[in-house]
Amino acid sequence: MSNIRMSKVRLIWLGICVLVCAMAIGAAAQDSQRGAVEHFIGTMVRQTATACPLTSPADQAALDLCRAALFGDSSFRRGLAPVVLWGRPSPDGRRLRDTNLTQFAPDVLSGLYMPMFMFTGEYEIGFDPTERLYRARVPALFRNALDPGQYPYPFWHDTKKWADYQAANELTFWIDPAKVKVVIMQFSAKGKPDPKLTSAPYAQPAFDGKWMWTDAKGQIQPQPTLFVGLMRSTNPYLGQLDSTFRELAGELRKGSCHECHSPDNYTGMKRLVLMQTPAHAAGEIKRIMRAVREDKMPLDDTGIYKEMDPAVKAALLKYGAAFESTVDAARDWEAKNP
Ligand code: HEC
Repeated sequence: MSNIRMSKVRLIWLGICVLVCAMAIGAAAQDSQRGAVEHFIGTMVRQTATACPLTSPADQAALDLCRAALFGDSSFRRGLAPVVLWGRPSPDGRRLRDTNLTQFAPDVLSGLYMPMFMFTGEYEIGFDPTERLYRARVPALFRNALDPGQYPYPFWHDTKKWADYQAANELTFWIDPAKVKVVIMQFSAKGKPDPKLTSAPYAQPAFDGKWMWTDAKGQIQPQPTLFVGLMRSTNPYLGQLDSTFRELAGELRKGSCHECHSPDNYTGMKRLVLMQTPAHAAGEIKRIMRAVREDKMPLDDTGIYKEMDPAVKAALLKYGAAFESTVDAARDWEAKNP
């Protein structure tokens, strides 16, 4: 009897030991995960701040250097998940899954959006148990006084959006702990107030409804969306990227894609996909082709598949394929001519 009781006590002790051990191993794993995430984000923020330091929000030369560095083989670009969500926090503090955000490929985020900001090199990191993601808060200032053609599109089409960009003093990087990649980024004015991170409000010209336009010098704008300043000016595919995009854009319009897939997001898509410029479309072309080929797009106003005129569908796939192979060739050329 007492023998049995003894072994029961032992068993309980053994159980407690196993539990404590497991907790210790868990804590050690969490520490090493935190260490990995801190190292990752520290490198990313420091290198980004070196390439994109605080300076005048009108400084074009500084922007050019920042953009070329981030679009190149940067730790920022390498640290992005294949699709990153970008945008503002929801005004009523909703969770990320209930916040409207835009999906961007690493090319688009590192070449068009991230260079719009300047950095101090500081950051603060913590784990958010609700989102189950690490959150790095990174002080930043938006370049608000550039030529209109330097932005990915006229953010001032929406007064509130332009005001929010101009007021931003912080970027939030959300990091998936398992992949150690940035999966979501948000800009906000929720950072610590800092006179270094404020700029005088700047008024851009009135928006005339065009996401792309030709300026007084006859140049198509926004230039960076034609890969100017991103790919080398000697890249032999640059002209073809523009011409094949125009042909594709005509079919996207006929297919009614732009009605929903536009920066004004008039249907209120929760995970917006943009395709209104060559760079935006290049980031999404594989998914565009798949969605059309598999009859997943376009949708009608009730959100179900809307049949496309077979001739438009065929043309969209034809011009889409031409654009896709030009994008691939242009990227290959860049990789082979470092
Ligand atoms: C009526 C609005 C509407 C129209 C028109 C529309 N889309 Fe969409 N699209 C959506 C919505 C909503 C989603 C998000 C779907 C989801 O819930 O995942 C989406 C998602 C997508 C995606 C990303 C999802 C994926 O498959 O990976 C692509 C690519 C896409 N659309 C391409 C197109 C193309 C190309 C056209 C034109 C031929 C088009 N869409 C027309 C509303 C629209």
